[in-house]
Amino acid sequence: MTYENLILEQVEHGIHRFTVNRPRALNALNPETLAELGAAVAEVAADPQARVLLLTGAGDKAFVAGADISRLADMGPVEGQRFCETALKVFRAIELLPIPVIALVNGYALGGGCELAMACDFIIASENAVFGQPEVNLGINAGFGGTQRLPRRVGAGMALELLLTGRQVKAEEALRIGLVNHVVPRDQLMAKGLEIARLIAAKAPLAVRYTKQLVQRGQDLDLENACALESQVFGLLCATEDKREGVRAFLEKRPARFQGR
Ligand code: HXC
Repeated sequence: MTYENLILEQVEHGIHRFTVNRPRALNALNPETLAELGAAVAEVAADPQARVLLLTGAGDKAFVAGADISRLADMGPVEGQRFCETALKVFRAIELLPIPVIALVNGYALGGGCELAMACDFIIASENAVFGQPEVNLGINAGFGGTQRLPRRVGAGMALELLLTGRQVKAEEALRIGLVNHVVPRDQLMAKGLEIARLIAAKAPLAVRYTKQLVQRGQDLDLENACALESQVFGLLCATEDKREGVRAFLEKRPARFQGR
């Protein structure tokens, strides 16, 4: 597949980066870009060496400024629903990747851009980042998962305020309300993303994969079933070579060499 609106790179061994690359339209998501994102996610999902995915936007102004508004103009109900379903499918594929995905938000993350960032496991923002769900200004609702993922991130009250007013939130407030994990100067965003990606990439791949799954799946279960699942996965990981190596390495006071099995 050739990519026109997306740059795919392997930054270093096991660490991949996708850059949404339509800076003239502030990286707005049109159907073509969504299709490319879906194909790229499938490529990374099929790579057994992949450990972490970083997702960012091209330029200094925007991560993704939303769905491409020029394409919304002539959209009727059938096309509108299809557009949302396509995006939801791609975003869900990002969420379900067996490796962690970190959004590096380098500017505006509005509408579908905020929703894309929230489909990632966590968000690191640069100081100029701006988040928001401005769909109410356009007479529509957040349709790429925002009405569901935003309350799960920041609680129903704050999510409703943002969804109902369209108010934009700067990086420091996003940090305070728990939408982002870190805020760093723009020129340190990639370095911070890489620093965390390297820490994760050095851990046991199966432990990382199942920990991500446990946190995600547990949010849709009651506490008892979620904890039962946790203990089952723990038992499963006790059968891995990486668990033997990790414990042995600790006792022998040396770094572990994990192999993902
Ligand atoms: C298409 C966009 C765009 C978008 C910006 N552009 N956002 N094009 N879709 N979402 C284009 C502009 O038209 C302009 O193109 C160029 O990018 C630069 O943008 P400006 O507006 O000139 O920049 P600035 O004045 O700095 O303002 C930045 C901004 C503003 C605050 C981010 O662009 C803005 O409000 N954008 C829309 C944000 C938004 O409403 N997003 C939600 C979309 S709906 P030209 O050609 O004039 O230079 C959504 C719903 C998803 O995401 C679910 C339902 C389908």
